Amino acid sequence: MLPEDLMQVARVAAGHASAPYSRFPVGAAVETTDGQIFPGCNIESATYGLTVCAERVAIFSAIAAGARPIRIAVICVQGDPAQPNSLMPCGACRQVMLDQMGPDATVYVHGVGEFTVDDLMPHGFRLP
Ligand code: THU
Repeated sequence: MLPEDLMQVARVAAGHASAPYSRFPVGAAVETTDGQIFPGCNIESATYGLTVCAERVAIFSAIAAGARPIRIAVICVQGDPAQPNSLMPCGACRQVMLDQMGPDATVYVHGVGEFTVDDLMPHGFRLP
């Protein structure tokens, strides 16, 4: 799928976000090497700490469906973020990207650019 089309999947997913506390809806989408697409959105909890980011929801959906390897992830937010860094994946999601996608996979961040997982998570932890 073209990155713009994958971005559109993420945009639709952002519309499904459950973000009543932050009011910051995020959408993500991942594509496997054989072209399967999985959307994700952030899902917040009244306990705050149980909130899960859009990126991890998308990655975990793909894993749960038995779909891998994942080669591309895209991230967007609904509406205009105040600054580009509010589109960048958090540290926890970067570790999960490294775990599940590997260092060479591509991450497109809407309006910011294209990265490898290794760009986002250099010197990341991996089990020996
Ligand atoms: N969030 C994501 O979904 N992805 C990110 O990369 C960073 C933050 C969510 C978590 C929370 O629901 C809201 O954005 C504000 O932090």
